[in-house]
This record gives sequence, structure tokens and C-alpha cells, in this order.
Amino acid sequence: MIEAQHISKWFGPILAVDDVSFTVERGDVLGFLGPNGAGKSTSMRMITGFLPLSGGKVTIGGHDIETQPIAAKSLVGYLPENAPGYPEMTVDSFLHFAAEIRGLRGRAATEAVTRAIRTCFLERVRYQTIETLSKGYKHRTCFAQAILHDPPVLVLDEPTDGLDPNQKYEVRQLIKEMGKTKAIIVSTHILEEVDAICSRLIIIDRGKLVFNGSPAELRARGSSSGTVVCRVLAVSAAELVQALSGLAGAGRPEVVRDQAGAVTVRVAATGRDASLAGRVRKVLAGKGWEIDELHTDEGRLDEVFRELTIPDTVQEGQS
Ligand SMILES: Nc1ncnc2c1ncn2[C@@H]1O[C@H](COP(=O)(O)OP(=O)(O)O)[C@@H](O)[C@H]1O
Ligand SMILES: [Mg+2]
Repeated sequence: MIEAQHISKWFGPILAVDDVSFTVERGDVLGFLGPNGAGKSTSMRMITGFLPLSGGKVTIGGHDIETQPIAAKSLVGYLPENAPGYPEMTVDSFLHFAAEIRGLRGRAATEAVTRAIRTCFLERVRYQTIETLSKGYKHRTCFAQAILHDPPVLVLDEPTDGLDPNQKYEVRQLIKEMGKTKAIIVSTHILEEVDAICSRLIIIDRGKLVFNGSPAELRARGSSSGTVVCRVLAVSAAELVQALSGLAGAGRPEVVRDQAGAVTVRVAATGRDASLAGRVRKVLAGKGWEIDELHTDEGRLDEVFRELTIPDTVQEGQS
């Protein structure tokens, strides 16, 4: 449904988006991650036809955003950054206005507005002017505008920004639900969001694509991924380290905690061998020690995110 091919954007001498390509199908929620200033909003503006491309091509449902803008844009709902709206309009009149722009008239318009108001939990503020709304309600009013015409493609720029935890949860549920049938791109810098709603992820850093894959694949990239952590009772730290030293495919055991008769040790995996936990268990069982806990670290998203986007550790060309 969304196809971005080698898109680039120059702002004068600044290359804000540098040769980024990806596709999004129906049923996909694509997380668009990157530090501030990475080029997420700029990419979204190009995809939705708000900014001309400096290079590359975008098609929405097969329609070129630059040569067939009306056909392409009619398939897209867009929630821009900072949720703009008309401050002096009421929620209801703003949404009717947006419905009219989308070509909806009469009963169809009223039904669309009512449905969007219900979906975005706006009943309570329907006849209030937008300038009097809290940030969360303003945001949801703009969200309602984006889904009015029930588009198959949604482009959402930081959709949970400024919401309280309950509203964040509601919006994430909403995106997840809509993601079953639509093609959705969601930008965020909140990593927990990625796990909650995204089936796929791309990360951009200083305009360049540095990762394209699933959340699990991203996690597996982390340097702590595959590390085995175990807590053993009634043993000394020295004995435990000694016993777990020299295991094949493992680094030197590192004592994390030594407290109240329990020692916690981390053993880093040096290869991609999934059986390290089993071998650690075997050693411990062979000694007859009591295992209080033993698990394999899945890797942390924040860790990989930093590894991929910190300037001197940027691993370009690994996507
Ligand atoms: N209209 C503009 N004119 C000049 N530079 C811009 C403009 N919009 C964005 N930029 C620059 O492009 C880069 C990417 O910005 P942006 O896409 O907003 O990043 P993100 O959304 O990932 O935080 C930044 O360096 C920003 O300063
Ligand atoms: Mg942005």
C-alpha cells in the first residue's frame, strides 16, 4: 500500500532524508524510529505529499504521490506532528469541515463524524472549541480528522505524544486494532510503543536507514542478547565463577549480585548458539547446586537503539 523508493530531501545544504526505501502492506504497523532530528517527520511529510521529494518516488496504493496526488491522498489519513487544528472551531464543526474536504456530504458526513468522535473518545468535548481543549483532546481531534474517511493507509507522526498513560494505552489499542486491516506508519521515539503496536520497524539516524526488520530481530542485535543470567543459592561467588568459566561459546562469567546466600551471575554468549542456558544448567546441576533463577536475555530495545544511533557506533549498511 505504501512504497517509498530511495526518497531523499534536501533543505538547502542539509540532507535531512538520505536514500530511504521501505514498503508497508495492509495488516502492517510499521514503527518509524529515530532520535530527534533524524528525519522522521520529513519522511512522513513526503509520503503524504505535503513536501515535494528531492529524489526518489512514493506510491500509495499504486498511485504516485507527485503525479497522481488526488488518487494517492484520498487513500491516506495523516496525523501531523503537533496535531494542528483550527482553534476557534468546535470539534464537531472542525470534523464536519474535514469531512467536506474529503468529499463526504449530508448523512455520510454526519455518520463519519459521529463514528470518528466515538472511536477517538471525543463525545465529552464535541461542542467545545479546539483552543479550550487539553493537549490530549486536541491530539485526538486531529486523530479523528485522520480517520474520518476510513482510509486504508494511515501515517501517524508521534500519535501518543503529550497523552497521559491511560490515553496512550487507548490510542495504542486503537492503532493495533486498525492495523489489522490498514497499512499504518507510526513514528515514535518511545521504545515501549514499538513492542506494543508494531509488527515491523525501521530506524533512521541522521536521514539514513540503519535498520529494517521485526522488533525481535532488533532485540537480537543487542550485545546483551543471548546472555544467560542465573541465580544460585548457597554457593560462593568464586565457586560459581570457577564452575562456569571456560564454557564453549561463552564469555567470562560476571558477578551481578552476591547477597543473602544467593549469587547472580551473567554469562555472555559469544556466538549465536541458543543452547548456552542448557549448558549452564547442566554445569550447575552437576554440582548439585540449587538454581533459584535461570533465563536467557532477549536483548533490550533501548540498548540496540543506542548502539545503532550513537554517532561513533553507527553501523551503517547493516539494514
Ligand atoms: N522546513 C525545514 N527547513 C530546514 N530544515 C528542516 C526543515 N524541516 C526539517 N528540517 C531539518 O531536517 C532534519 C530532520 O527533521 P525532522 O524530519 O523533523 O526530524 P524528526 O521528525 O525525526 O525529529 C532536522 O535536522 C531538521 O532541523
Ligand atoms: Mg518529528
